[in-house]
Amino acid sequence: MTNLRSRVDCRLNSTGNGVQCSPEGYRIYPIYTLFHFERLFPMYEYRSYLGQLLGCAVASLAIYLAAKFSLGFCCLIALLIYKWRRRHLSMYDNIEDFLRSNNNLMPIRYSYSDIKKMTRGFKDKLGEGGYGSVYKAKLRSGGLVAIKMLGKSKTNGQDFINEVGTIGRIRHVNVVRLIGFCVDGSKRSLVYDFMPNGSLDKYIFSQQRDVSLSCQKIFEIALGVARGIDYLHQGCDMQILHFDIKPHNILLNENFTPKVSDFGLAKLYPLDNSIVSLTAARGTMGYIAPELFYKNIGGVSYKADVYSFGMLLMEMAGRRKNLNAGIEQSSQFSQIYFPTWVSDQLKAGKDIEIGDDATDEEKKIIKKMMMVALWCIQMKPIERPSMNKVVEMLEGEIESLQMPPRPFLYPQQIPADEVVWTIEVPVDQVLQNLKRLL
Ligand SMILES: Nc1ncnc2c1ncn2[C@@H]1O[C@H](COP(=O)(O)OP(=O)(O)O)[C@@H](O)[C@H]1O
Ligand SMILES: [Mg+2]
Repeated sequence: MTNLRSRVDCRLNSTGNGVQCSPEGYRIYPIYTLFHFERLFPMYEYRSYLGQLLGCAVASLAIYLAAKFSLGFCCLIALLIYKWRRRHLSMYDNIEDFLRSNNNLMPIRYSYSDIKKMTRGFKDKLGEGGYGSVYKAKLRSGGLVAIKMLGKSKTNGQDFINEVGTIGRIRHVNVVRLIGFCVDGSKRSLVYDFMPNGSLDKYIFSQQRDVSLSCQKIFEIALGVARGIDYLHQGCDMQILHFDIKPHNILLNENFTPKVSDFGLAKLYPLDNSIVSLTAARGTMGYIAPELFYKNIGGVSYKADVYSFGMLLMEMAGRRKNLNAGIEQSSQFSQIYFPTWVSDQLKAGKDIEIGDDATDEEKKIIKKMMMVALWCIQMKPIERPSMNKVVEMLEGEIESLQMPPRPFLYPQQIPADEVVWTIEVPVDQVLQNLKRLL
């Protein structure tokens, strides 16, 4: 026996029916010997071309099978994931579609991560208001929505959910639909139908011709808004007071159908009671009803919204701000308080000229809107009509309208010491003063 192992070369013979190996004298072995080299030549370290070839083939086959198997496996996993996602998505699609098309159902509750995904990381900001920022977003079912991110609130999340549940059930053609909401820790948001034509302010205050609407269209929008507010006041099972009616809160859909928005926000998002802010949460300067700061003219009620609507209606008819001190000094509307000027014009039997080329029909529409608006902005709430009456007045003939009393900007007749100014006064400070007096 030798320790040294020599080499043995084996190759297929020319006929292919046997194997020749050297240095074994090129004896021909039957082909099966290929698989028994170790036994035949135990003392040799052999190398077989055919063996290598066969090894290669086996290895390739193994690799091929492994690749095929793993590819198949990957495809199977991908298919399963796809199927699961489709089922999951279509479930959401169905729920969203169902909730969007059916009345009296709860809005959908979204998680904060859903909101982040839908807004694509809060990419497309539509605007910013007193309650927070608004972003454009897309539902999983494809529909476009506007998501209002509310500031942090100290109130109970359950209260918010209950309120959303109630407000979310409200359906009216002139009220923007609340589709969903999110309460995730201190983060709260509201998901609304997206209104492609944005808010009314850009159409009534813009000087650009391309964004201006016809007189008839403006009237239709005003009537729609009146119907929307009337519905909030008495058409649903609870009375909703808006407290922030203004052109920015009237949104327009693709057909310019108006939708009252931000209703119920005052309810949903109660202020920390210490400060009553004019601009942020309980109204906006120029639209806020006087009883909200003059305590002696009447209690705060749905008539506060009637006042704000009146201010809005006058701005729509006049296509200018009611309170616009100094801006239009040179024009015929140089009055600081537009409604007083309008009232004087009407009393004098004059037309209110808006633009140069108004037809008689348009002048009549404008006059009707102005007269209804003047009724709505009466200083004392009791003298203002209800929204139901406002709708009736707008729908009726101008001839059946009575001339409203001249409106005032502030209650001059009321002695100054009776006027209680409550804005921006912290409650604790009032309490402290009271304690000092007692
Ligand atoms: N549902 C909506 N669809 C489209 N745009 C919206 C929607 N809601 C709000 N916006 C836009 O976002 C802006 C900010 O809204 P908001 O927070 O209500 O503030 P404000 O009413 O004081 O302008 C609005 O002026 C409006 O243009
Ligand atoms: Mg708004």
